[in-house]
Amino acid sequence: MPLGKPAQQRRLAGVLSYEDARDRARKVLPRLLFDYVDGGADDELTMRLNGERLRRLLLRPRTGVWVPRPGLKTEVLGTTLSMPVLTAPCGGMRLVHPDGDLAVTRAAARAGVVPVVPSGSGHSLEDIAASDGPKWFQLYRFSDRAGMESLVEGARAAGYEALVVTMDTGIAGNRERDFRNGFSYDLRINAGTALRLGPQMIRRPGWAFRFWRDGMPFELPNTARFGSDGRAMSLTEMARGGAESFSPTWRDVERIRETWAGGLVVKGVMTGDDARRAVDLGADAVVVSNHGGRQLDGVPATIDALPEVVAAVGGRAAVLLDSGVRRGGDVVKALALGARAVLVGRPVVWGLAIAGEAGVAHVLELLRSQIIRTMCLMGCPSVAALDPGWLWAHPRS
Ligand code: FNR
Repeated sequence: MPLGKPAQQRRLAGVLSYEDARDRARKVLPRLLFDYVDGGADDELTMRLNGERLRRLLLRPRTGVWVPRPGLKTEVLGTTLSMPVLTAPCGGMRLVHPDGDLAVTRAAARAGVVPVVPSGSGHSLEDIAASDGPKWFQLYRFSDRAGMESLVEGARAAGYEALVVTMDTGIAGNRERDFRNGFSYDLRINAGTALRLGPQMIRRPGWAFRFWRDGMPFELPNTARFGSDGRAMSLTEMARGGAESFSPTWRDVERIRETWAGGLVVKGVMTGDDARRAVDLGADAVVVSNHGGRQLDGVPATIDALPEVVAAVGGRAAVLLDSGVRRGGDVVKALALGARAVLVGRPVVWGLAIAGEAGVAHVLELLRSQIIRTMCLMGCPSVAALDPGWLWAHPRS
């Protein structure tokens, strides 16, 4: 079935890989927005390692086995996914495309995967919840605990099935590309931004027109619920942070567990100790994540942290992984090392930038076809069968 309208299909024609999608998005987005998505913290060492270390890992196929239709179905926290993939929560998506998280969520439902809806969405959690399919909600603390608790209440009332508590964002990472570009999230056009962004906008008229028609939004509707005046915070205010941690703390996880009956997922775990702590506090899953290399630079690739976390969790909770997953083969490698499923961030954002919902759907279907092809060629009948035996033993020199 073709994905999207003819114009969208044209924009997606020839997008066969992550690199294609990234290149196409680079032509659609103003430079500062492309860099906001593409970039990482400090020297971007961790961001690069995420991809490099995944790609250094080698597959160990079994030959002469005919696998016509490998099983991709995966169960996570009681929900069956059509493949072991979720969309990662990415704030600021309404700047990338007016349909933002609405488009991501719809495309995810169509693909049979779960979207993790960010706190920092340009659409309210209620508007997003109105579309089909199970959804998880990613939780930040924003200004204080009361704000966080009102988000939890909102997620409960709107029917989200799980909370994903992001733990690695006490303050924003040092994203030097953003500083160099003068990216403040606040793209409201005034004399200063017109001068600064004018040349970029002229070269990206499609994006500029869509952004203008959308009312140049940069407020976060989810934050309106906890200001005494009902005013939503801007993305800039959100990123600036305050005297308190922007991420929930372990104490918050403990409190949330007491009142939240749905799935509880702790995102941003890199060590066995923290994974154990999360599970001891009642988490149903942990996400091995370094935020795509956007927070603390100098930590290892998530694929290198994964075995320690899997061993520490010891089957008491599901282990998910994100950061650097670009191809179906990467998904297979993460599963072979014990991840139940992966989250994908930037690939989804590039799809959104190129063609909204149809673009996200396209990127997800690319991943699916790559997973299937890899599994067929490896002679592996189902994702449930993956274990370290499907990887080469000495890949890492
Ligand atoms: C993110 N990420 C993120 N995570 C989170 O918990 N809350 C958020 O608001 C955001 N915002 C955000 C914006 C953008 C533009 C990106 C690229 C990422 C991190 C995200 O959920 C995920 O951990 C990484 O994106 C995974 O790495 P890859 O797949 O992008 O390499």
